Amino acid sequence: MPELTIRKLHPVIGAEVTGVDFREPVDHETREALSQALSEHLALVFPNQDLTPEQYLNAGAAFGPVMRQHYSQNDMPGHELIGLVLHTEGRKVAEDWHTDHTNHEKPPLATMLYGIEVPSAGGGTSICSTRAAYDALDEDERLKLCGMKSVNMLDVDRVGTRQEDEERYGKPVVHPMVRTHPVHGTRAVYFHVTKVQYIEGMSEDLSRAYMEDLLQRMVKPEITYHHKWRKGDVLIFDDRATLHRAHGDYDRSESRVLWRILVEGDKPRLI
Ligand SMILES: [Fe+2]
Repeated sequence: MPELTIRKLHPVIGAEVTGVDFREPVDHETREALSQALSEHLALVFPNQDLTPEQYLNAGAAFGPVMRQHYSQNDMPGHELIGLVLHTEGRKVAEDWHTDHTNHEKPPLATMLYGIEVPSAGGGTSICSTRAAYDALDEDERLKLCGMKSVNMLDVDRVGTRQEDEERYGKPVVHPMVRTHPVHGTRAVYFHVTKVQYIEGMSEDLSRAYMEDLLQRMVKPEITYHHKWRKGDVLIFDDRATLHRAHGDYDRSESRVLWRILVEGDKPRLI
């Protein structure tokens, strides 16, 4: 097993990991150590990686099976398990706080991003611990949230979704709004505002208003890691206990290209 070094990047969330080379197969012990580190720190940065698409998929697979992404128009040609994140041709920056693919029965365990072209300033990615956010809520609200379930669909306001993806991923999926982490055993708030059609027992409008208000109160710098991209960074974050967003505050004459992988997770459960 290679010598892994883990250095915290923020008091609550995020760590840098060195000593792993994703160009080589990752052995069982290293996989276990990486999964534990991800569950604990919720976001891991692997700097200075130089990977082909196949090697990058090997990096994702170190955390679990890699899953298909539901907006297939963004797939990398020839590598359908890698999504291309860029903001050309009218594609919007995902600036609202969210966690990925919550309309799946088994949403991703983690999202991995790889910095291929990065702007000289701005264009970062922020990740907020919803485990810490849950802990910071008062007891009454924690109790209330633990009784709530969200009904999730593909984003209603999204343009360019392919008919085949609508058919494959269009059916509503119900999840608890607080989930227990399968590795760490802790609880975290779990929802993606624009994928939630409604919270069971609430109107669509009230559901949206409640989630927007909750986000305002939950997301704070003390529980958020901001990643400033360097070319060659691999960033992975635990979708079971975080929210993330991109920042569009960069010069659009510069290029920002990230490769995205989703690692398959389990069905969210509250225990
Ligand atoms: Fe995302």
